[in-house]
Amino acid sequence: MPVKLGLRFPEGFVWGAATSAYQIEGAANVDGRGPSVWDTFCRTPGKVRNGETGDVAADHYHRWAEDLDMIKSLGIRSYRFSVSWSRVLPTGAGLVNTKGLDFYKRLVEGMLQRGITPMLTLYHWDTPQTLQDRGGWEERETAYRFADYAALIAQALGDSVPCWLTLNEPKTVVQNGYLHGNHAPGHQDPAAAYVVAHHQLLAHGLAVQAMRPYLPAEGRVGPALNLHPCYPADESPEALEQTHLYDGYENRLYLDPIFKASYPADTLADIARFSPMASYINDGDLKIISEPIDLLAVQYYTPIYVNAAGKTEQRHPRSEAFWQQIYPQGLYDILTRVKKDYGDLPLTITENGLPTPDLLGGDGTVDDPGRVAFFRDHFAAAHRSITDGVNLESFHIWSLMDNFEWQEGLGERWGLVYVDYATQRRIPKRSAAWYGEVIRANEV
Ligand code: FCB
Repeated sequence: MPVKLGLRFPEGFVWGAATSAYQIEGAANVDGRGPSVWDTFCRTPGKVRNGETGDVAADHYHRWAEDLDMIKSLGIRSYRFSVSWSRVLPTGAGLVNTKGLDFYKRLVEGMLQRGITPMLTLYHWDTPQTLQDRGGWEERETAYRFADYAALIAQALGDSVPCWLTLNEPKTVVQNGYLHGNHAPGHQDPAAAYVVAHHQLLAHGLAVQAMRPYLPAEGRVGPALNLHPCYPADESPEALEQTHLYDGYENRLYLDPIFKASYPADTLADIARFSPMASYINDGDLKIISEPIDLLAVQYYTPIYVNAAGKTEQRHPRSEAFWQQIYPQGLYDILTRVKKDYGDLPLTITENGLPTPDLLGGDGTVDDPGRVAFFRDHFAAAHRSITDGVNLESFHIWSLMDNFEWQEGLGERWGLVYVDYATQRRIPKRSAAWYGEVIRANEV
């Protein structure tokens, strides 16, 4: 396997890694953290593989200092993490849990001391349960509570964190949380799903507005969207038409309001068949949603192929994740498409990766050639997009370390670093050493 391709990245290109609060922190009931929808979901029988939870996960809440040392020793320059809303505001609003907020202050301070640049996600799916009990994202009110929370965190950390992400993958909350029901809050309610889409987008815009006064002029903020390049499975006019509509649901429904202050008409018309979403869009909402942002965070995992019947098909090798096809060209396609259709805003990749089997060897090492090959090819695709004019400034791999992978529990291992959950020992995989070389050389 040729591991070196001789592709040099522009000077100043930033290499990073990503995690999220519920997936790594553990300490679910420590220091006053309130429950989130994921605590509730994990306790609902049959929802998460083997009944696992994020109660302990990678115990990062207690091991944060050693984890930051590890990030530094791997050579990773930018660390994308998320704040647990209910750790800071146990009921989602009102009384602040100082111990929770202090944790994130220590964490950010710890990064700065080690020369690691923090990138902060405000919401990675862990809606405070109290807000969910009042309707969660189905209620417009939740968007305003999110903006209050965003302002609070920006006030506390605005001077220390240069880059802020509002919502992580609002589409996943819509599709997995409210259509398929395989993520928290576990609903199967198409009517509500697209109301949830609108309220999350509104929350994004309100948060950007609410944070600005607390961010220095150079402080940057944007959303983190998982984008899926959609391709027709054949050349029939029906497949082309179905692919266009699919693209509406996967991409334009989120990109258009943010960049163009409008929802895509075809997608909205289709949604109107089963959801009252349109009646929830108030005058002025699209102006709020399209509040200027400083960068767009793109997350890419898989392409989607759509046939004439509007169903999806597989075209490429799969990973262990049932939904993932490995297709690096898709990353190039989606990045160049964003530039073509939405302009030249700086882009950062905030997630890309794959799970590999548990490869802990008898000698205590973890050799994961599949991950090395995957990143080599995706880095090459990113490089080609830069050569072709895409304003891509950084790449954060998913994930820094093995963690609680939502409904898959601890079963899927997405990390550069192996976590032995019995002892919480961290063991950098072969891919971590390889990534360190890429970073040092700024070259793949
Ligand atoms: C993304 C999520 C992230 C992780 C990866 C595998 O959709 O944002 O938390 O679960 O998938």
